[in-house]
Amino acid sequence: MSMQIAPSLLAADFARLADEADVVSAVADWLHVDVMDGHFVPNLTIGLPVVESLRKHARLPLDCHLMIENPDQWAPGYAEAGARNVTIHAEAASAPIRTLRAIRAAGARAGLAFNPATSVLPYADLLPEVDMLLLMTIEPGFGGQEFMDLVLPKIRQARELISRHGTEIWLQVDGGVHEQTIGRCAEAGADMFVAGSAVYGSQDPAGAVKVLRDLAVAAVAPPAPFGEI
Ligand code: DX5
Ligand code: ZN
Repeated sequence: MSMQIAPSLLAADFARLADEADVVSAVADWLHVDVMDGHFVPNLTIGLPVVESLRKHARLPLDCHLMIENPDQWAPGYAEAGARNVTIHAEAASAPIRTLRAIRAAGARAGLAFNPATSVLPYADLLPEVDMLLLMTIEPGFGGQEFMDLVLPKIRQARELISRHGTEIWLQVDGGVHEQTIGRCAEAGADMFVAGSAVYGSQDPAGAVKVLRDLAVAAVAPPAPFGEI
């Protein structure tokens, strides 16, 4: 299983977004962009005009995580603006199937996100409509919060649902992912890791990305045969 790392720009310097994106462009897989509207979550960040500008300057593909009310109205616009993945929240979407299809029709991968208290089971029938599930491992809204271990069983459950479904759907975790927690997530079945403060809070963001990826890979590596070191 390949392990993907998506540094979250939420923890970067918003006045220097292009430079901050550049710092990880050689080592990360995606740039995670947290769009918050001050309604679905109690924080306000960036929106479509900034994503459109970032798209022109960032070398990595943009992974837009929409923490907004009414994603049915806004999500396709992010795909049209060039985001390569657009994730909507199950709790916020009134017509998730139509919206996921509209994201795909606009040329992006479609993601469906779940807050820690939301079960994925009622959404099992929607798997053919998604390219990625995002499981929040904090209550969304702010970076730098403590990882919630109570989500680990849901990561396992989601991985099982995906395996039974049979096609490749990425399983992303977001919130409190750092050197001490990424192994637990990988071992439970996650294969895409959002990290904000663990990357941009580091003196060496690119080095932090490499360490996180190594830890994720090591967590699922089969044990070395007896006699080998
Ligand atoms: C929070 C955002 C996260 C945030 C994670 O709601 O969705 O992407 O950047 O930040 P850390 O990695 O610091 O917990
Ligand atoms: Zn996020």
